[in-house]
Amino acid sequence: MVPLTGPNKVKAAVFISGTGSNLKSLIKFSKTKKSPISVSLILTDNSKAKGLDFANINKIKKKTFNFKKKNLAEKRMLIELKKNKIQIICLAGFMKILSKSFIKNFKGKILNIHPSLLPKYKGLNTHQRAIDNKEKHSGCTVHYVTSKLDSGKIILKKKVKISKKDTSKTLAKKILKQEHILYPKALLKVFNL
Ligand code: GRF
Repeated sequence: MVPLTGPNKVKAAVFISGTGSNLKSLIKFSKTKKSPISVSLILTDNSKAKGLDFANINKIKKKTFNFKKKNLAEKRMLIELKKNKIQIICLAGFMKILSKSFIKNFKGKILNIHPSLLPKYKGLNTHQRAIDNKEKHSGCTVHYVTSKLDSGKIILKKKVKISKKDTSKTLAKKILKQEHILYPKALLKVFNL
């Protein structure tokens, strides 16, 4: 991707479904001088997503799409993305799986953050599964999105130690903290910065 800075930052859309703590960290990063992106649009499948508060606070355009009709939702999302001249998509706790035909429109331009050291523990319940398997480490991964779940090319990973006392809740908290650092770093890497 062409590295751009200053007023010519690449317009990014962030897709969320829940709390939006990664969205919060991406917005904070996007406001720094070194950020190659500006968060210009926030899309969700969940009108009650707490993360939408960050859209209001930061005056960023937000839109909800009903995924009961996924085809239609994706078509409408694509229209919105084009309208807003979005060039890169950051999935951040977005709980819907995007179709092949949607992804084709943004080939190599959709990133996701996943709370495990991929390729280990794709899918849900990553922390409990890592603990149950007596792993010594888990962590988080930023990767490109392809039509195969959590399987696209890895951009960056961060390892986090699992202690004997960790529950899935405490581990999630530790990893989430690292996610907030890793996603901006991965964006810098994507833009060769
Ligand atoms: C994060 O752990 C992310 O890796 C996963 O969903 C969680 C979202 O958290 N995909 P938040 O909404 O960014 O706080």
